[in-house]
Amino acid sequence: MERVSKAEVPEAVRQRAQWLRAEIERHNTAYYVQDAPLIPDSEFDRLFAELQDLEARYPQLASVDSPTLRVGGAPRSDLPPVRHAVPMLSLNNGLAESDAIAFDERVRDLLAKAGEPVETVTYACELKFDGLAMSLRYVDGVLELAATRGDGTVGEDVTPNVRTIRSVPLRLKDCRAPVVEVRGEVLMYRRDLDRLNRVQRESGEKEFANPRNAAAGSLRQLDARITARRRLHFFAYGIGQLQGATEPATHSATLDWLQQLGMPVCEERATASGADGLLEFYRNAGARRADLPYDIDGVVYKVDSLRAQRLLGFVSRAPRFALAHKFPPQEALTQVLDIEVQVGRTGALTPVARLAPVAVGGVTVTNATLHNEQEVARRDVRVGDTVIVRRAGDVIPEVVAVVLERRPAGAQPFRMPERCPVCGSAVERPEQEAVSRCTGGLFCPAQRKQALLHFAGRRAIDIDGLGERVVDQLVDSGLVRSAADLYRLDQARLAALDRMGHKSASNLLEAIDRSRGTTLDRFIFALGIRHVGEATAQALAAHFGNLKALLDADETRLLEVSDIGPVVARSIRHFLDEAHNREVITALRKAGVHWPETSGAAARDRGRLSGRTFVLTGTLEGLTRTEAADRIAAAGGRVSSSVSKKTDFVVAGEEAGTKLARARELGVHVIDEAELLRMLDGSNP
Ligand code: IVH
Repeated sequence: MERVSKAEVPEAVRQRAQWLRAEIERHNTAYYVQDAPLIPDSEFDRLFAELQDLEARYPQLASVDSPTLRVGGAPRSDLPPVRHAVPMLSLNNGLAESDAIAFDERVRDLLAKAGEPVETVTYACELKFDGLAMSLRYVDGVLELAATRGDGTVGEDVTPNVRTIRSVPLRLKDCRAPVVEVRGEVLMYRRDLDRLNRVQRESGEKEFANPRNAAAGSLRQLDARITARRRLHFFAYGIGQLQGATEPATHSATLDWLQQLGMPVCEERATASGADGLLEFYRNAGARRADLPYDIDGVVYKVDSLRAQRLLGFVSRAPRFALAHKFPPQEALTQVLDIEVQVGRTGALTPVARLAPVAVGGVTVTNATLHNEQEVARRDVRVGDTVIVRRAGDVIPEVVAVVLERRPAGAQPFRMPERCPVCGSAVERPEQEAVSRCTGGLFCPAQRKQALLHFAGRRAIDIDGLGERVVDQLVDSGLVRSAADLYRLDQARLAALDRMGHKSASNLLEAIDRSRGTTLDRFIFALGIRHVGEATAQALAAHFGNLKALLDADETRLLEVSDIGPVVARSIRHFLDEAHNREVITALRKAGVHWPETSGAAARDRGRLSGRTFVLTGTLEGLTRTEAADRIAAAGGRVSSSVSKKTDFVVAGEEAGTKLARARELGVHVIDEAELLRMLDGSNP
């Protein structure tokens, strides 16, 4: 980077800087004042970094009103303004691991220059919460004022709202300091955001794009009752003003002290030595990220020694002693090239956005599910739109929002096709249902393919090597129309498929042959009956014991099976009454698909304890606990570890303790080992 004199600032650069400032201000207002960002954070950070870079290269560009000199938006006018006793600053950001290494080097350099060289620096490492910065002022231990950051100097008074956050203590424990200002983050758990958005949707209100906007929107309410309903959380991460007490010597000790005062401090924190320690913390936090109930967008490193912090000081808007090491952005901007409609196994039509390829959270995303027609309408996604896509953890990428101001003229709202895009059959959407379906059934090649893939699945009939590529070819070439056709394939036909070859063809044939021997529950599951998942298939197999009994069962009989309700019973009957499905089942049996069968009575016998929950306590005489549990499970019962109202029987052995007492308290039936054995034998129904 080199400095240039005023006369040399090219006009294009001057104009770019001007544009960047206006753009950043506009987004600041959208983000901080309206709680409705127009672009993802990463995009904002990019604009900001570009302006910072220009101003560093051409210092003549700097001006007192540049957004690089302030940390947020102007306070919102309808909440009372609050001047912070100690300004609320921002953090410098790093994205790459090399940024963390450079940060540690800089810290050591500066400390050495300040005359206090340190070989290895100790850092306090924390999570970077993706919420809203808050300052809580306690006077004589009592919460007196809660303020947002605002522009860093003047924020907004949100005291009544913050008082509704349950984890924020209204009074500190044993606090002798007359003034303590606690700094931290207000956040909303993801599950609470889902709940809130459901309510917003049902009442026709705008949904929140992410937990941070929801937290901000919930706090900056003139009516604190609204905040109270939103279940916000708070984590303390530092101190602002402090009077009448000496601060501990380190940042980590400060956090411990805050915790003693009753403040919530996140347990996911640690001290680390040197750059290696920082990176280890960063990687660990990245791995734990998806398991946390709230969003984080990185980690924060702070030099632990407060004395060292003072020596390092600040530059413009941020401390030199801290660094926010961000995770790769999980959101990015891209364009919707097309909206395609996919057909699933049960005919469900799913609109999928084809996207201009974009890197999100470390992978390239080219499409995102739009779920169903209503979802597309709710987000009003159109072909040509610029959208924010998000990819969190292993979750399928999603379109979070449309950047309306970038919508091209003439973009048309999406409409679900009236005919199946694959087979041309009519599409129906029963009232009350969100999902449109192709009515083509197994006539529809798309449904046929999905049905075959389901049939061949590992948990179904289990044909190793029968993947999407092969199924596509088998169906498209007309070689396979139903699952039964799989058992008629031969080496020559298979080997002729694209990219197949003799070796893989014979492997596949072997796998198909192996799959002939199966179990009744797998077979039922493999049929792909709507609403019949693995558990239901197991229940059906256990109840009926053989296929004929199932085929003959009317809806009333089906309803006798545990966990089967009217919708599922109807769906099973509907499937089995379809001539085509009966033919496939017969053909499969003829092809040699087989399983051990029992009489229905024997099967029910085995399931005699089905639906019953047992708790074992104390020492049994004849059986070990594990044996007893195994036999109960074999008879269809369930063994639980704790007694509740839902427990049917507590089996009490010698020296039964609290569980027995609890059973008596709740009026749960208590039996002894002999009685359990009778039940297992069937002599005591
Ligand atoms: S310390 C002087 N620690 O990140 C430094 N900030 O750009 C003051 N944030 O909006 C901030 N987690 O609210 C600090 N563990 C953490 C944080 C954290 C999130 C937010 C903070 C501010 C932004 C700083």
